[in-house]
Amino acid sequence: MDRMLITSALPYINGVKHLGNLVGSMLPADVYARFQRQRGREVLFICATDEHGTPAELAARAAGQTVQHYCREQHDIQARAGAAFGLSFDHFGRSSNAANHRLTQHFAAVLEENGLIEERVDKQIYSIDDQRFLPDRYVEGTCPHCGYEKARGDQCDNCGRLLDPIELKEPYSAISGSRNIEVRETKHLYLLQSKLQDRIADWVASRTDWPALTRSIARKWLTEGLRDRSITRDLVWGVPVMKDGERRPGFENKVFYVWFDAPIAYIAATQEWAAAAGADWERWWRTDKGAGDVRYVQFMGKDNVAFHTVSFPATLLGSEEPWKTVDTLKSLNWLTWYGGKFSTSQGRGVFMDQALDILPADYWRWHLMANAPESDDSSFTLEQFAGVVNKDLADVLGNFVNRITRFCKARFGEAVPQAGAYGEAEAALTAELDRRIADYTACLEAMEFRKAFVELRAIWVAGNEYLQTAAPWTTIKQDEAAAAASVRCALNLIALFAALSRPVIPFTADRMAAIFGLDPETAARWPEGAAAALSRFRGGEPFSPPEVLFKKIEDDEIESWRARFGAE
Ligand code: MF3
Ligand code: ZN
Repeated sequence: MDRMLITSALPYINGVKHLGNLVGSMLPADVYARFQRQRGREVLFICATDEHGTPAELAARAAGQTVQHYCREQHDIQARAGAAFGLSFDHFGRSSNAANHRLTQHFAAVLEENGLIEERVDKQIYSIDDQRFLPDRYVEGTCPHCGYEKARGDQCDNCGRLLDPIELKEPYSAISGSRNIEVRETKHLYLLQSKLQDRIADWVASRTDWPALTRSIARKWLTEGLRDRSITRDLVWGVPVMKDGERRPGFENKVFYVWFDAPIAYIAATQEWAAAAGADWERWWRTDKGAGDVRYVQFMGKDNVAFHTVSFPATLLGSEEPWKTVDTLKSLNWLTWYGGKFSTSQGRGVFMDQALDILPADYWRWHLMANAPESDDSSFTLEQFAGVVNKDLADVLGNFVNRITRFCKARFGEAVPQAGAYGEAEAALTAELDRRIADYTACLEAMEFRKAFVELRAIWVAGNEYLQTAAPWTTIKQDEAAAAASVRCALNLIALFAALSRPVIPFTADRMAAIFGLDPETAARWPEGAAAALSRFRGGEPFSPPEVLFKKIEDDEIESWRARFGAE
């Protein structure tokens, strides 16, 4: 497949994301998108802010802003942070845009025509003092399972169980704190997922290359039997529920549930991109318009898997329209902050904007991806981060580039030396690199990031070891031609490293390519093999040594960050 659609789970609008959110979906999706572009595939990489639901309304209220204003501002902040981190979205849209309103209403209409949507009377928490229903997080109370006193209507943060607001004991309004609360009946729309059980089971069975974690989550839901789910909420902010061009009777104060409209925004954001770029969105999303040739890959945290393997497919398949569905999903576990939760309110953890105040994006990108929470949750500590940066980036990669460019400049001048021929050492290096590059490429293709970056690091180490053994600073005393050949080989390695490292450390890769004045596109092309890569520069090509690529992190810096970010 030469065309790939890649989406990252849409970050919630409320606040800049922390490192755990970043490595949970946006960053691995970016690494994969960059890798596939370098391989010459036509990639469309889409993301957006997820703007509806109670968290957005509550956060806007806390910020003293209208929800429209809050979302616009936060969208821009997140877009800037993403760009500064090198997230190479083709489009970073908004789930609240007009395209998503239209599309969400379209899906609701066709699902209803197909007999898959039904009005049902529901019991909801009503606040007499606030004069409104209190969906999801608008109500808090005591968890019926564990007794935690600040459980939210949709979930208990203490025991993690999903809740229905009416299950809470001693409920109170999260808006006013009022306990003057009763249960009232009101209508909601239900998506009849039970009717789609077989369709979805067949579809899941047809997806042959899902990773084990993804498949087992989907199977679990199917085995328990799909339940009909309410897809509307008593809220003002969101996609209004319409019927024949007007607000649906009885639903004047209701909107679609955020988890109904958010995944549809993958499509809506693509429409927005297409409109701006003068491109055709249908060839990415409609199988009757060429999307059958697209491979669609989604990235997300593990808590999102059920929504992407069951709920969103129910929307798409239930429409009976030819929508493209996901081919494979990569789901990640949690990154914790010193074994606990990242928390804005408690000032625990590093958030994307703060991270870039301290160090350039590539330092974080490398550490996060090399230690991605793939098979298990993993814990972020500043100490480990510093260790990894100092060793892998400063000592191994940075030092290699620094040492060889400076040595060459001092002894041969600022051009790749011409003399000498490659011998046994270069042949052995070529063989090792060929093996490792093949393995690295296969791991990236399989989205096994930790393994991939163990291999990339080994490739950098192989370069260092080669240089250590070839020791041109010693050989030059007896055999200048031999020294020239090994310097030439090592300079070629820099260009090779730039291409291979680019998916994960794109800013540094650009700096490495700039040493030789390579244009970014050529520099980025995925290497065919080590032999060709090591004879790219044959001698005479000018270069200029860069500033130090990575600075080491000092102990006193770690100390001050520990205090600033609540490390314990
Ligand atoms: N905002 C959700 C989260 O951060 C993810 C939404 S993904 C989408 O968990 F499918 F809804 F778009
Ligand atoms: Zn609980």
